[in-house]
Amino acid sequence: MADLLTVINLRTSFHRPDGIVNAVNGISYSLGYGETLGIVGESGSGKSVSVLSLLKLLRSNARVESGEALLEGRDLLKLSKEEMRKVRGKEIAMIFQNPMTCLNPTYRIGRQMIEPLLWHKEADRTGASSIAVKLLQQAGIPEASSRFGDYPFQFSGGMRQRVMIAMALTCNPKLLIADEPTTALDVTVRSQILNLLQEMKAEYKMSVIIITHDFGIATNFCDKLIVMYAGRIVESAPTVSFVLKPQHPYSKGLLRSTLDIDLNGEKLKPIPGNPPSLINLPSGCAFHPRCEHCTEKCRNEIPELKQIDDQHSVACHMLQEITSV
Ligand SMILES: Nc1ncnc2c1ncn2[C@@H]1O[C@H](COP(=O)(O)OP(=O)(O)O)[C@@H](O)[C@H]1O
Ligand SMILES: [Mg+2]
Repeated sequence: MADLLTVINLRTSFHRPDGIVNAVNGISYSLGYGETLGIVGESGSGKSVSVLSLLKLLRSNARVESGEALLEGRDLLKLSKEEMRKVRGKEIAMIFQNPMTCLNPTYRIGRQMIEPLLWHKEADRTGASSIAVKLLQQAGIPEASSRFGDYPFQFSGGMRQRVMIAMALTCNPKLLIADEPTTALDVTVRSQILNLLQEMKAEYKMSVIIITHDFGIATNFCDKLIVMYAGRIVESAPTVSFVLKPQHPYSKGLLRSTLDIDLNGEKLKPIPGNPPSLINLPSGCAFHPRCEHCTEKCRNEIPELKQIDDQHSVACHMLQEITSV
């Protein structure tokens, strides 16, 4: 079966008085039906901008410079605002780190949940209310039918996150995009929310994109992963390959620092240095100033993302040298 989503060479930049921020520099990936993709990378690597670009949710100083984003063959980047409004919620829903980005503090949550159902003409008022209550129940909200009339501030942080997930699923989207959905939560609530996402994904047969800086979450939750650095994909592979044999020095560093594991007997160490400014990207491979394997070629030429194995691609000039040691 063809893929649900195919993104090809997406580039997005921001025009600021101090220069152009190259937030997303030509990324390509695909997502199958029922599949979960993790987008991993340090803060500022372009993860959020890459998905906000698909939904026309960027600020007005943003420009999608090039690319295609085919949802079942239809290019999302070519849709008008009106057409995009029909896609949002119904075909693709998005949840964020902070539920208050999605919830309106002045409306009862029931009203907020039935609105998209009515707007997309998915149900009448009575039908919409019963869909909403059922979703709240499934999302683990106790006494859902009475909580339906409550305001967002009447829920705790974890419960609000559950409400947001229920709300995202009202119109049964094909794709759910979760941007750092558990970053603001403490550890026990975090795993509950991830379990809930897992259950809802199976129940509603969705594909999911989860954005996280946490390799632990990504490897537990996703079928395949892409690692972003300075707006580019540096490695892309099924999760199993990532855990067993990560290839890019940056992915290895991230894995080592988040999972606290010892790769092939190498010493545990965090990645030295900081992510680069996206206004003045380093020449060649953007990771070269932080890379212990850096050579002249790395300083001068941008490495292409090359397939090294079935479904496993890496952008690194030094791959052969690193792996043969
Ligand atoms: N509205 C904006 N104006 C200018 N730059 C922005 C804007 N939004 C994001 N950026 C820049 O785009 C880059 C990528 O951001 P983002 O996708 O949010 O990173 P991530 O989600 O990986 O942490 C960052 O350098 C950020 O400063
Ligand atoms: Mg982000």
